[in-house]
Amino acid sequence: MAKKRGKRTWMTRHVNDPWVQRSQQDGYRSRASYKLLEIDERHGLLRPGRVVVDLGAAPGGWSQVAASRVASGGRVIALDLLTMEPLEGVRVIQADFEEEAGLDALLAALPDGRADLVLSDMAPNISGVKVADQARAMALAELALELAISVLRPGGALVVKLFHGAGFESWMATARSLFESVRVRKPEASRAESREVYAVAERFRGSTAD
Ligand SMILES: C[S@@+](CC[C@H](N)C(=O)[O-])C[C@H]1O[C@@H](n2cnc3c(N)ncnc32)[C@H](O)[C@@H]1O
Repeated sequence: MAKKRGKRTWMTRHVNDPWVQRSQQDGYRSRASYKLLEIDERHGLLRPGRVVVDLGAAPGGWSQVAASRVASGGRVIALDLLTMEPLEGVRVIQADFEEEAGLDALLAALPDGRADLVLSDMAPNISGVKVADQARAMALAELALELAISVLRPGGALVVKLFHGAGFESWMATARSLFESVRVRKPEASRAESREVYAVAERFRGSTAD
């Protein structure tokens, strides 16, 4: 019974959400598009010709924004556990990023194995056990950072969903040692009650291989 009421509350909130209504009017697949739009307005990360990796991409709101901004000369490689409808200018890979096969498929899709921007909006399914959920979310953020280290060109950027809690400060410290600038953003479209924020790391200093 309680579960049903919870579902109904979610549905009412979803239907009445102004960002959901706006995304339907603007033709975006998810309200999440506005988070990336706001971040990009501020940081100017999506430029024509850029190669972008979009982790946790389904249903494709971020990929839509990225593909339209990197235009025909650029490329977006989108990966998610879930199926995602095709999008023009986006190579979609259905895979688990925590599995080696998922990483291999992604690397194979990158032109010369390099990217200008790594985006990660990955979030685990919430179990309700706070400590476990935080650990899983941070594990995904760690993997996104590892990918960035191995594929970003020097000067490249990374945008990652993070949740305040255990592991947050340590993730930020590592990112700050690798990028010249790391800022934390809470876009307007991000629900106020959510601990979700986005780390925007810019000007990658380069890996030892560069
Ligand atoms: C908040 S949604 C992303 C919304 C998306 N950015 C958009 O704009 O439409 C988070 C996504 O992360 C994906 N995800 C979670 N863990 C993953 C994993 N290990 N590998 C790939 N995708 C994962 C989920 O399947 C889910 O689609």
